[in-house]
Amino acid sequence: MKLDGFEVSKIIKNNLRTEVEILKGQGKRVPCLAVVLVGTDAASQTYVNSKVKQCERVGFESQAYLLPEDTSLETLLSLISDLNQDDRVDGILVQLPLPKHLDEDIVINALSPDKDVDGLHPENVGLLALDQARFIPCTPKGIMTLLNEYNIDLSGKRALVIGRSRLVGKPVASLLMKENATVTIAHSKTTNLESLIAENDIIVVAIGKAQFIEASMIHGNHVLIDVGIHRIDGKIVGDVQPEAYEKAAYATPVPKGVGPMTIASLLENTMVAYKLKGE
Ligand code: GUN
Repeated sequence: MKLDGFEVSKIIKNNLRTEVEILKGQGKRVPCLAVVLVGTDAASQTYVNSKVKQCERVGFESQAYLLPEDTSLETLLSLISDLNQDDRVDGILVQLPLPKHLDEDIVINALSPDKDVDGLHPENVGLLALDQARFIPCTPKGIMTLLNEYNIDLSGKRALVIGRSRLVGKPVASLLMKENATVTIAHSKTTNLESLIAENDIIVVAIGKAQFIEASMIHGNHVLIDVGIHRIDGKIVGDVQPEAYEKAAYATPVPKGVGPMTIASLLENTMVAYKLKGE
């Protein structure tokens, strides 16, 4: 069965739109997201455009800062400092990956934790690890919302997370654990991946390699979450061979699976940031 992220994301956005209408009716300011992109990576440009467009769709304000590839750390930190202090800005997202000369840790650490809608600042990572999350990173949040929407019970289930990134692998493992799943984290150096897949119930693939997981590894009891997005010969594919989606009990397709849920979760987190201000 398809886990239809596109349809579920529409429900989330409709709910946010209604909330924005209520705020407007009360004469209040609407939430505002600032998106920062450094460089000209084509995929990142697409994501940033889409984030700005979806802000408009729900009635949020947005600000896009498109900086050249050779932007200095000093310039970027100065922009972040301005956005941190700007009362009209609720959420700040710095699109990753950054160009190599910019240290991601320094940039993320400079974000005000109250505006870090990606949930990447160490304070927010710590809160999530302690099950006290302020901002749940967008892709993991979207995955958990989708599983919940389809009433997929996680308690006592064995979940395999393939990938250990700060954006997806690590936080989704924490969230699955919180829901009482027994979690294994595999990564590029894991040797017995095929047998791990065979013995787990829920498989989250966020390894960043196109069609890395073969359809033959997936069986009819699997819940399969494909986080990958790759463009190959003009077609969008995931980290899993698409024939696997039909074989699994439940699966997120690529496109229209996890991708739209990530953006819907970003909008939800922007609303969380807005409400934190308590205006
Ligand atoms: N690059 C790919 N996914 C994401 C995301 O969720 N947030 C940010 N900031 N960058 C990304």
